[in-house]
Amino acid sequence: MAGLFISLEGIDGSGKSTQGRRLAETLRARGHAVTLTREPGGSPGAEEIRRLVLEGATDRWSAETEILLFTAARRDHLEKTIRPALARGDVVITDRFADSTRIFQGITRGDLSQKVDRLHSLMIGVEPDLTLLFDLDPAVGLARATARAGKELRFEDMGLAFQTQARAGFLALAARHDRFRIIDADADPDSVAARVWQAVAPILG
Ligand SMILES: Nc1ncnc2c1ncn2[C@@H]1O[C@H](COP(=O)(O)OP(=O)(O)OP(=O)(O)O)[C@@H](O)[C@H]1O
Ligand SMILES: [Mg+2]
Repeated sequence: MAGLFISLEGIDGSGKSTQGRRLAETLRARGHAVTLTREPGGSPGAEEIRRLVLEGATDRWSAETEILLFTAARRDHLEKTIRPALARGDVVITDRFADSTRIFQGITRGDLSQKVDRLHSLMIGVEPDLTLLFDLDPAVGLARATARAGKELRFEDMGLAFQTQARAGFLALAARHDRFRIIDADADPDSVAARVWQAVAPILG
């Protein structure tokens, strides 16, 4: 079998990027070839789209336009980065994937779930083998995310109610799919990393 496809999901500031780096290090130390990548982005073309969707005013794009931009970025990421890495046999860890679109574009600004799902099956059509959902109080997540320097704050600027709805959406999605493992992210980074490893180790066999 070709490689293993893992996605990291959760609200802003829940620790996905921190834990993605740590998981990649742990796997490499155990001899696995790892591709650590992210969305939106993860390929040169998709990184250009990243700036369009993560920077600027909250009302820069409608949710519908965002679905198209995120899906275009994801298609490029899949073609140029994810599929080649899986074909080499790598463990691919992506910091966000389609579940983020299901939540942030699919439910938080009106119910656009059907459009998201139809576009996903038409243009993407794959799911991760394992999805780690970092679950955290949105107030804690927002405080962590906005304390970090940077200008990729378009979604953070959508506010606490938006992140609260996103958290509930992620938990509901996780309840419907066996590929999810919920990681309690309200702990120090070492403890969260240990929880991540407990979830990943059994899949590696
Ligand atoms: N377990 C933790 N406890 C306290 N702070 C943390 C923890 N994990 C990460 N952080 C810090 O919180 C901030 C957000 O973490 P991180 O960037 O990993 O989250 P994220 O889920 O990738 O966020 P985003 O969705 O905005 O990319 C960072 O400054 C990070 O150093
Ligand atoms: Mg991040």
